[in-house]
Amino acid sequence: MKDKTKLVAAGRPRRKPFHPVNPPVERVSTYLFPTYDDYIEGGRNIVYGRLGGPTHRALEETITALEGGVETRLAPSGLQAVNAALLAFVKAGDRVLVTDSAYDPTRKFCDRFLARFGVETVYYDPAAGTGVADLITTNTKIVFAESPGSLTFDVQDIPALAKAAHAKGAKLLVDNTWSGGVFLKPLALGADVVIHAGTKYFSGHSDCLIGSITSRDEETAKAIFQSLLQIGANVSADDAYLTLRGMRTLAVRMEAHQQNGVALAKWLAKRPEVKRVLHPGLKNFAGHTIWKRDFAGASGLFGVILNPVGKPALKAFFNALKLFGMGFSWGGFESLCIHVHPENNRTATKWTDEGPVLRLHAGLEDIDDLTADLDRGFAAMGAVRG
Ligand SMILES: Cc1ncc(COP(=O)(O)O)c(C=O)c1O
Repeated sequence: MKDKTKLVAAGRPRRKPFHPVNPPVERVSTYLFPTYDDYIEGGRNIVYGRLGGPTHRALEETITALEGGVETRLAPSGLQAVNAALLAFVKAGDRVLVTDSAYDPTRKFCDRFLARFGVETVYYDPAAGTGVADLITTNTKIVFAESPGSLTFDVQDIPALAKAAHAKGAKLLVDNTWSGGVFLKPLALGADVVIHAGTKYFSGHSDCLIGSITSRDEETAKAIFQSLLQIGANVSADDAYLTLRGMRTLAVRMEAHQQNGVALAKWLAKRPEVKRVLHPGLKNFAGHTIWKRDFAGASGLFGVILNPVGKPALKAFFNALKLFGMGFSWGGFESLCIHVHPENNRTATKWTDEGPVLRLHAGLEDIDDLTADLDRGFAAMGAVRG
């Protein structure tokens, strides 16, 4: 089955004599077992609310169908999915390698939390590829990738990272949120674990937080399950339901985000205010060749570096926008634009580009209205400059 079909058909258990099209919300803390034997046997992981119920299983099955692998487990947020996946494989004295382009709270978890428990984090150049092997010591348990990085869009060579990690017994974990699971298949490229902030494209409507972790093999899946269990992670059935509802239309939304994203990137590339566009789908972007080899498309999240401009002009730009909202998330149906600071989030490499960096999320609005909105912003910016 192709992704479009999987997203429609997966996670829909059939009950006799009839059943709802989409699994409904089943809100449970306590399950009751009718007989002593049932109590001893338990259901397949459905024994207590914190371990999830039918609504959660339906979503997990759908994500597993999309990503491949053997099993998916949910977490209450994308960040906790990242954290639980990291915690599953490390102990005091171990080392993890993390891409320098990683989502900042992922870095903070490593620097401020893992460090307290004696786990060392070493950041690597997102362009390293097989070169990451030089940093893999005998105590290195994890290579963590996020491709493309959600601030600067550095595309990583996942097959090369997998090869280097596996040669020294480490696992490759990939945050695949950017691709929505539709445009990149890290497990097929050699990764051991795929993580999503389902908060973004999976749920797709900017109204719930959720994370997922999909494992390549049973042993990895067991470690992930134990990690989430011991942390006490819990996902509400309502959020699992909303996310599964969103996933039914994921494939068509991703196509629409891609279309608007590419159109905006090309439009922005021609603007005099723009120095460089950070979009993996553009031919002149540094990561384009690897993106073309490994990805089936581009989502709606990308960046631009503006030519240097003062704060008042930048303020005027943002305040003139009517459709692009200023918000910290992305992956919903709406367009967003924020000012970001990649220079503050790097240690292994240096961000040397001068000029403000904007991160845009192309929503599902009409492209002409979106370009008109940015045009309005640039006009306001120019008026302040002038
Ligand atoms: C790439 C990436 N990973 C993980 C997360 C964390 O997701 P959540 O906000 O659901 O914790 C985010 C959130 O912005 C993200 O951009």
